[in-house]
Amino acid sequence: MSDLEVCPFDAPLGAEIRGVDISKPLTPSAVETIRTAWHDHLVLLFRDQDMSDAQHFAFTAQFGTLDYPPELLLAIAAGEVRVEDEPMAINVISNVIENGKPIGVLGNGEAFWHSDSTFVEIPPAASLLRSLEVPDSGGDTYFMNMYQALETLPDELRQAIKGKSSKHDAAYSSSGKRRPQFTELDPSKSTGPIHPLERTHPDTGRKSLYLGRRLGSYIVGLPLDESEDLLDRIWDHITEGDFIWAQQWRVGDLVWWDNRCAMHRRDAFDPNVRRTMHRTQLAGDRPY
Ligand code: SIN
Repeated sequence: MSDLEVCPFDAPLGAEIRGVDISKPLTPSAVETIRTAWHDHLVLLFRDQDMSDAQHFAFTAQFGTLDYPPELLLAIAAGEVRVEDEPMAINVISNVIENGKPIGVLGNGEAFWHSDSTFVEIPPAASLLRSLEVPDSGGDTYFMNMYQALETLPDELRQAIKGKSSKHDAAYSSSGKRRPQFTELDPSKSTGPIHPLERTHPDTGRKSLYLGRRLGSYIVGLPLDESEDLLDRIWDHITEGDFIWAQQWRVGDLVWWDNRCAMHRRDAFDPNVRRTMHRTQLAGDRPY
């Protein structure tokens, strides 16, 4: 008999998975229970997990194909590196500086609402973030249920986005930093993949709102000012809504989210306190 338990949060999304040591290979039935919980609850929390990066990769690989960290996905998309030459790399998210160099990305600032790496044609299906060092306060991560964001959209906005798609350019990181290789400032003229605003989840068949991030976004076919206005109204709706669950980190937490139907953001924290996370990702799928 397995001790594995799925304990949903009293929140619009999220569940804690208890009674399983994810550093070890899972039974086929545990894989299926966790996969179903992922589809049902969008965000899963595993606490008190003591694992290496190799075990983190091995856990992830039981659910699909591993994907590369954002900067490598961009380099692959730009043809700067070849997939077959690239070893899989852990994505380090950290404010720690060692020998004068950051050991990871994002620093200590806020990360704005986003889905991961939607600036490539096939964005990751999931991200799995594991905490190695955390501050006593600050640095919480928030998750938004994008099924509910769509379902609660006022009729007028739902009609306005019907059949429309948006461009997801890579000009800005989730901390709002501009990537220097992207020089076009007008999002209607920049390059980037086009994704539908309303996307159908390939496993659940449910529709969700798919926005990527606000900065650099553009609704294809509209004059820029109309696109900005419509995007502002959509973002006002979702950020005022109540579709959110917040994770307060402890060392040894692993949080896994569905990147296709949940967005996330992170609070800023004290720059003098260390916060380090390691992240793996599961490759995405088409069609929507
Ligand atoms: C991210 O925005 O992907 C990082 C989340 C975090 O650091 O909590």
